[in-house]
Amino acid sequence: MTKTLIRALQADITSLSVDAIVNAANPSLLGGGGVDGAIHRAAGPELLRECRSLGGCRTGQAKLTGGYRLAAGYVIHTVGPVWRGGANGEPELLASCYRCSIELAAANGIATLAFPGISTGVYGYPIEPAAEVAVTAVRSSLRADTGIREVVFCCFSPGDLQVYERALGRNHEKR
Ligand code: AR6
Repeated sequence: MTKTLIRALQADITSLSVDAIVNAANPSLLGGGGVDGAIHRAAGPELLRECRSLGGCRTGQAKLTGGYRLAAGYVIHTVGPVWRGGANGEPELLASCYRCSIELAAANGIATLAFPGISTGVYGYPIEPAAEVAVTAVRSSLRADTGIREVVFCCFSPGDLQVYERALGRNHEKR
């Protein structure tokens, strides 16, 4: 059973040298703003070409592509829920993004993986509950033997990093 290190750091996810970075995409998988735009710009036009062949992605699911000009060898594209107050399946769909991304990583021999704060930008999911869902879903997915050695929660702002560090601490105490 592989022991997985889970940590949070503040960075631009496109700069990370990990096996795979996760993209907070939209159902078209054809690019957008936020982290999606940054990943497409850094990976180059070949990424969009591959994404066009995938036929989109449903909310809560994930699809894998190459990383092209990124340091990361792969991009896992997942589509988070749009926040509509929290009683419309948002927590379940967000947890599914993390779970499906971990499953896809494990199935492809990916050992190091970085997540952005899926849904916490344009899609409006408040950072505190989003971080709680992220940490809980990742920890529970890693109970299976995934072969994943490290999961990074890549935060764009110092404030988000603080929220994740608290969530990691709290979640640890609970177990
Ligand atoms: N590195 C790490 N995190 C980043 C970066 C970066 N370079 N850029 C932004 N973030 P968002 P969503 C953080 O809006 O809410 C796109 O147009 C950001 O601070 O990128 O899931 C898609 O095409 C926030 O915490 O994704 C969809 O249409 C987090 O990444 C829609 O936005 C997610 O913010 C998806 O919205």
